[in-house]
Amino acid sequence: LNTRQPIVAIDGPAGAGKSTVTRHIAQLLNLMYLDTGAMYRAITWKVLQSQISVDDEPAIAQLVSGSRIELIPDQDQIRVLIDGSDVTEAIRTQEVTRNVSAIAAQVAVRRGLVKQQQQLGRRGGLVAEGRDIGTHVFPDAELKIFLTASVEERAKRRYLELQQKGDLNTSLEEIKQDIIRRDELDSNRTIAPLRKAVDAIELSTDGLSIEQVTNEIVRLYTEHLKND
Ligand code: DC
Repeated sequence: LNTRQPIVAIDGPAGAGKSTVTRHIAQLLNLMYLDTGAMYRAITWKVLQSQISVDDEPAIAQLVSGSRIELIPDQDQIRVLIDGSDVTEAIRTQEVTRNVSAIAAQVAVRRGLVKQQQQLGRRGGLVAEGRDIGTHVFPDAELKIFLTASVEERAKRRYLELQQKGDLNTSLEEIKQDIIRRDELDSNRTIAPLRKAVDAIELSTDGLSIEQVTNEIVRLYTEHLKND
């Protein structure tokens, strides 16, 4: 007897609006929010702190198996803890962002984190956001969304986000180049590259508001449950 609650998978490239949309969907549909990117970022933060080289795969493999990551809902956000330390803000720095793709491409890192993600989602009732949710982590998810947006639009969004945070040093062009480079790394790695699952619904968020995208996904979810 399968008593698992539904799972929504939201994949797509950096800056397509996944995080905000996923947070809203979790609230509206009363689902747990699983931010898998935060887990790769937490490991990257710890690697950088430990002064381990980002290409020292054996050392990083060991670090992953000795790390405890917790995602704790806190009002309208998720606090990220690694080994008890709150790294919610620390994992969003440019330094972590620049190094995360190289670390997320390593077999042992993915194996370790995917196992934890599947464990967290074993009862369902969650919306999970990442790059390989529909293809690898939860291939049997009830609803799979692949969110996209043009590089220009994604760069503009990140730029405004950074400006709001008070980072006035990063130029729009730098952000754009960073996004292109990350897309390339994420799409071309050997294991679980960024790819639309065959049964995923592709949504371009260009010119759409967060609210419009959220409403469309909620509509698809409700429709799906009705047909089930
Ligand atoms: O979504 P984000 O920017 O927080 O993700 C950070 C990095 O982690 C991103 O460059 C790719 C990687 N990632 C991944 O490889 N697989 C996932 N399921 C989620 C993120």
